[in-house]
Amino acid sequence: MRIGVVGAGHVGLVSAAAFARWGHQVVAMDSDPAKIATLRSGASWFYEPGLQELLDETTAEGALTFSNDAADAVAGAEVVFVCVGTPPLPGGGPNLSFVEAVGRAVVAHATGDLVLVEKSTVPANTGRRLEQVIGRERQRLAIPHDIAVASNPEFLREGAAVGDTLHPDRVVYGTSSEPARDVLRAVYARLVAEDGCPVVETDVPTAELIKHASNAFLATRISFINAVAQVCERVGADVAIVAEGMGHDERIGHRFLQAGLGYGGSCFPKDVDAFAHLARQVGYEFGMLDEVRDVNRSQREAVITKLEAELWHLDQKVITLLGAAFKPGTDDLREAPAVHLAHRLREVGAIVRLYDPVALPNLAVEQPDLQGVEDLDEALHGAHAAVVCTEWDEIRAITPHRYLATLAYPIVVDGRNVHDPDEMIDAGIRYHSIGRRSVETSL
Ligand SMILES: NC(=O)c1ccc[n+]([C@@H]2O[C@H](COP(=O)([O-])OP(=O)(O)OC[C@H]3O[C@@H](n4cnc5c(N)ncnc54)[C@H](O)[C@@H]3O)[C@@H](O)[C@H]2O)c1
Repeated sequence: MRIGVVGAGHVGLVSAAAFARWGHQVVAMDSDPAKIATLRSGASWFYEPGLQELLDETTAEGALTFSNDAADAVAGAEVVFVCVGTPPLPGGGPNLSFVEAVGRAVVAHATGDLVLVEKSTVPANTGRRLEQVIGRERQRLAIPHDIAVASNPEFLREGAAVGDTLHPDRVVYGTSSEPARDVLRAVYARLVAEDGCPVVETDVPTAELIKHASNAFLATRISFINAVAQVCERVGADVAIVAEGMGHDERIGHRFLQAGLGYGGSCFPKDVDAFAHLARQVGYEFGMLDEVRDVNRSQREAVITKLEAELWHLDQKVITLLGAAFKPGTDDLREAPAVHLAHRLREVGAIVRLYDPVALPNLAVEQPDLQGVEDLDEALHGAHAAVVCTEWDEIRAITPHRYLATLAYPIVVDGRNVHDPDEMIDAGIRYHSIGRRSVETSL
């Protein structure tokens, strides 16, 4: 099939490469000329393990090409995937103007019947809005072609995006058009035949809602265990063992039960807010999601409380944040807990250094007022405290001895529970973690 992908970002680029791997002819289009120039030079514009190899393979075969021009992605295509961003607006809802712009561009450039597929995460009424936009534009431009709308939400995780796309837990698509359903079956035919993953075929609003409900549920698990961690700290229980004990129950499972600084990234924070916003718009107050968001925010504040318990005030105190990316395996800094914490620490007068094995070039561009330090020992050297923010292997591997040899005061707040509390405390570290054994603070 001829497939157009509009928005060559974390979702669009990986999806485009996967479509090409499955035998389709794909044009990935992005409105940012710098990103297309980078892609045409043979490199990805963001870090994602395994992506470079997949790009090398699919571009060498000529199955995947790149363009700045929407016409290249749409003209002649049987199906166009919308993979542009849907960033949050101040009121909690997502900004859908990029999605709408793609809808209009698709009508303008269509050369035959096609299916417009939302892969961007959107609220459960967007498909109807897109149909309205398409209908008006077709009439205005006197376009004869039939343009059906479908939803095909994406569930990949950054840091594992290639594996998740090539071997997904499930494929979900929704449409009310029979021909559009056949097109989506053809898009995923090879994947389903070779991988055997389950397919959920439904209507557009149900598919849209599956995505928001999934992300909101995963965020709820994280906030739930973080709330449990708060209780653990107060009664002297260990949240990691509580989570392990809970997770052996097959109805619960082990995943997304790690207490820590909370979730970040470009999806969970925005999707929890967008889902609550949509519910409110349609007359349901989904207060549980407000609580999920509040617990997540309070996890970062709890770090400041722990640092203040050790260091009194934080004015002019040097604090090293270990990890900047919102999770390991990516250089994505969007809504990263470390970035949020860095700004909060600066508000209370601290001098903040950030170390990250991958994300510092991005930090320099996106957060130029924050100080990145490229060498781990240099980042730790002379700091009054260190805070573990991202569980990179290199950060997990820091020994008590290395902290003792570098920090001015041996104070470590482990925001990801990566170190062994007994080992740290026995070595003389003033060690605090989330919901587990910490040193006593008497002041
Ligand atoms: N990142 C994830 O892990 C993930 C996972 C599942 C779903 N999603 C959803 O997928 C969508 C895209 O997320 P992302 O992380 O890939 O974003 P991204 O910022 O990495 O990529 C979006 C791309 O769209 C481009 N773009 C914006 N407007 C455009 C236009 N009018 N025409 C062409 N290109 C345009 C941008 O330049 C950018 O490269 C969002 O709705 C997000 O919620 C993201």
